[in-house]
Amino acid sequence: MKKILFVCLGNICRSPLAEGILLALKNKYGLNIEVDSAGTSAYHLGELPDRRTVAHAKKKWFDLSALRARQFKVSDFDTFDHIFVMDSSNYAYVLSLSADETQQKKVSLLLQFTGNKKLLEVPDPFYGGDESFEHVFDLIYHACDNLCLQHFKW
Ligand code: 4NP
Repeated sequence: MKKILFVCLGNICRSPLAEGILLALKNKYGLNIEVDSAGTSAYHLGELPDRRTVAHAKKKWFDLSALRARQFKVSDFDTFDHIFVMDSSNYAYVLSLSADETQQKKVSLLLQFTGNKKLLEVPDPFYGGDESFEHVFDLIYHACDNLCLQHFKW
């Protein structure tokens, strides 16, 4: 059983979307994994995912209604096998809390799984329009699907 944590800034747009998508793909691919998500900030503790994220996910049949925002904590390094972050700022923050190389090795950018070396960060959609949420959905879905297909590597 592998445990996977997704991390973004607020834990209301990108990382809960990744969590909801991977939870659904887990069943499709029959993977033995546990999935969670967290934010580097405490801005939205206990909140539901952003209504725009929820709406875009719902259009594609992904249900995010059970998810609530929480903040990343140091003990997550022990709990999880892999910590997939959305952008370089999340990456720097999580690494700054790591204690050793074992913990650092658990952290990587989610978009490494898309195979597009020029696009490694999921942009923050919070201040964007509908197209930003659509774009973020496509990036995260594609990365999560590839993550499942390459599960034998991690
Ligand atoms: P997320 O998006 O990191 O993908 O959840 C954001 C959510 C909230 C804020 C910024 C980004 N905010 O500034 O409150």
